[in-house]
Order: sequence, then C-alpha cells, then structure tokens
Amino acid sequence: MEKIVSLCKRRGFIYPSSEIYGGFSSSYDFGPLGVEMKNNIKKVWWEEMTKNHENIVGLDAAILMSPKVWQASGHLAAGFADELAECKNCHKRFRADEIGKRCPECGGELMEPRKFNLMMKTFIGPIEDKAAVTYLRAETCQGIYMNFENVLNSMRLKIPLGICQIGKAFRNEITPKDFVYRIREFEQMEMQWFCHPKDAEKYFDFWLNERINWYLKLGIKKENLRIFEVPEKERAHYAKRQIDIQYKFPFGWKEIEGVHNRGDWDLSNHSKHSGKDLRYFDPSAGSGQAKEKYFPHIIETSVGVERSLFAFLCDAYQEIKGGRTKTTKPTKEVEILLKLDKKIAPIKVAVLPLVRNKPELVKKAKEVYQLLKPHFICQYDELGSIGRRYRRQDEIGTPLAVTVDFESLKKNDVTIRDRDSLKQIRVEIPKLKEVIQKILEDEEFLKLGKIIR
Ligand code: GAP
Repeated sequence: MEKIVSLCKRRGFIYPSSEIYGGFSSSYDFGPLGVEMKNNIKKVWWEEMTKNHENIVGLDAAILMSPKVWQASGHLAAGFADELAECKNCHKRFRADEIGKRCPECGGELMEPRKFNLMMKTFIGPIEDKAAVTYLRAETCQGIYMNFENVLNSMRLKIPLGICQIGKAFRNEITPKDFVYRIREFEQMEMQWFCHPKDAEKYFDFWLNERINWYLKLGIKKENLRIFEVPEKERAHYAKRQIDIQYKFPFGWKEIEGVHNRGDWDLSNHSKHSGKDLRYFDPSAGSGQAKEKYFPHIIETSVGVERSLFAFLCDAYQEIKGGRTKTTKPTKEVEILLKLDKKIAPIKVAVLPLVRNKPELVKKAKEVYQLLKPHFICQYDELGSIGRRYRRQDEIGTPLAVTVDFESLKKNDVTIRDRDSLKQIRVEIPKLKEVIQKILEDEEFLKLGKIIR
C-alpha cells in the first residue's frame, strides 16, 4: 500500500489535496498521469455501455437537484447514515461498525452510537436559511430517475433500456480512509437498466456477469476478484438484492462495484412524492398482449472511478529484483513494472533517442515525437541511460517505447519495445503511426515489424 501511494505521488498519478497547507483529509488531486488514467477508465466504461450493448443511452445530469429528490429517495432518512460513536475523553468520532468498546485513539470510553447522515449539505443563493438548503448528490443515479420520462419520450425508446452516467458524487464519510478507497468527493459510473418486473432477476444475473467480465477483460487477475451477496440487514435502503464485486486490496477484500436490484423503489417513491405518474405503458404492445401500466424495475451497476483506478494500480504493480533482462545490465535496485492494460495506461508511447549527446539523433527523435503526439498520449525522454529510461516507463505502465538510434538516421526506421514481453521490432517511420495503432488495438506485436529480439 505504502509503495503504491508513494509511486502515485512520485510519478504524478495522485497527490494529497491542499498539501502546502498541511493537506485536507480525504481529498486527493489527480496529477498528469492520474487524469489520463481516469479518463481512460471512463472512456472504456462509457464505450462498453453505449457501444457494446443495445439500447443504452448516456446522460449528464446536474449535481445540484431539488432537496425533494433526496427526501423521496430515502437519502435524508436514517437509511443513508452510518452509526457513529464519540469518545467521551478526546471527542473523536468513529464508525461504530469499525471499532470495539474503547476509543482506538486514546482508549477512552465511547458514548452510545448515534446515526450520522452522509448527505453533504449546502445552501442555494445568498441567504443561508432552512429554505435554501440542498445537498450535493450522494449518488449520480437520482439524476437518471429524474430524467427517465424525458429520455424515454425524446429518444423514442422502449423497455428494456439503460441510461448511463458518469459524474461526481459526495458523501460526508465519517472515516475516509485507505488512500482513495473511501473519500468524500468521488466519481461514479452508473448504469440503470429499466425492465419489466418479471425480468429483473434475469437481468440482475446478466449485468453481474457483464461487470465481472469487464474487469477481467481489463486485466484484473481472477483470483483478486470475488462477489459477496449482501445479506438483507446490511443492504442499501433501496436494494431488494445487492451483490458487491470485491477486489483484494492490500488492506483486504473490499467492494469496488455494487450491482443492485432496486425494484420499483425509486420510480414509485418519486411518483408518490412528485405526484407525477412515472409508470410505463408500452403503446405498441400488440392486441394479444395485455396493455399494462407498471413501474419498471431497475437493475443498477455502480462503480467508483477512483476505487476502480486504485484496484487497477494494485493489480498491475510488480517488483522485479535484479533487472528484467539479460540484455540490459542487471541492477541492484528493485525494478517496478506497472502491467496496466494498454487501454487504461496513461502514456501509450515513450519516444527515446538512444543517446542525447548526438544532436542529429535528438533531432530525429523529436521529429518522431511530433509525428506521434497528435495521435497518442506520448512522452519524450532523453535524460539518463536508455536502460534507466525504459525502467522509468515500465514504472508508469507505458506499453510501448520507440527508440531512435544510429540506424534510424540511415534507414528512417525505429525500434518499438513491448513493455511486457520486452520483444523489439523494427518499423519504418512512415508506417509507425499505423503500426502503433494496431498494437494498441491488440494486433499481434511480432507480426507488425521486423523482429529484432
Ligand atoms: N447508486 C448506488 C450507489 O451509490 P454504493 O454501493 O453506495 O451504491 C457505488 O456506491 C460505488 O461507488 C461503490 O462500489 C464505490 O466504488 C463507489 N463509492 C461509494 N462511496 C465511495 C467513497 N466514499 N469513496 C470512493 N468511492 C465510493
């Protein structure tokens, strides 16, 4: 855990927030590599939902909504609260489910636990009175329910259908902890699948399976993933059924994604509170079919961007003692390899002149960098030995390194090194962009150029 946190800071993935003021607990800033990786995760998820599946459309609803939404959804009630125990001595507060009978800080006696609501309160407009209170959204999906009818009508869609959304959510967590695992401001990627009540269980199984496969496709090791059927008394207040997809983090098995059967909890409650009939009626149902009006049931898949990014980092992290190959000099240091899937690796291609004290090589390498830069996220590096520069790229998970050497000046070609196999191929510069594109799309590396080693 400490090694990953340190790598994140050292190499520009994740920084503590407001660091020059001593930090601000539970907030983190994503650095140049972190933001690329986050964007990649969101892109892969979005494409999975909107391209690889039928009948799913996107949405981007506002973070601020009427407080009536949260009244109706049950988030202002005791159901969306953690039990909190306060120490009589030091007055620090702890989640009751995470401690014993005494204060973990000073050993003092604890008061009876009380419920503590997790909604993040704010005021709208200049007067900070009761009428101005609203909340930052605690889950993005409520914006989807608010727009269920709008989407249905404007897009002329029929059930079953999905609406997906990516956006910020906020929770006043009592004990944010474990780096970016539990934070107060995070991003969610949520998909709400609206279906006929009789199909809900079938779709629950379908979506659970799809979501597990998504992680496996992106390289998460099977043995680090498991599911946990949440028993009734521990379920979220809206869930009829809940399965957590858990990842084996350095601090134990923990949820990264929830798959929920929310039944008609949301649409029926919003109908009741708003007075608007949100039941579905299929006007095209044939004469043989009963023309019924019903609340669609909702199967939800919900994952945090930061939490999944953290899991991808943990899963990809490897340490190799004494160097990775015989061709580069063995080192005394431990080498770090971040074996991220190509799709989510922040930098796709490193461009490296073999040495930096030959101006013609540097010039050529910079030309190659300019050629690739508009198409891929690239990094140019000329500092230090070539072996050291490869290691720097391995440490941040860059799948490909393009090296410009003396041959390049004569033959107008370069070497591409594959991060994982350490194999190298030789490719002519005019074909380089196309070849890199193919490698990133998972075509077989060794078939795309002349094999060097
Ligand atoms: N709409 C359903 C929902 O919000 P949840 O299980 O409370 O369900 C879903 O949250 C996912 O959002 C979690 O599996 C996790 O990945 C992410 N998440 C929730 N709270 C978080 C927090 N405090 N910090 C980081 N991620 C969080």
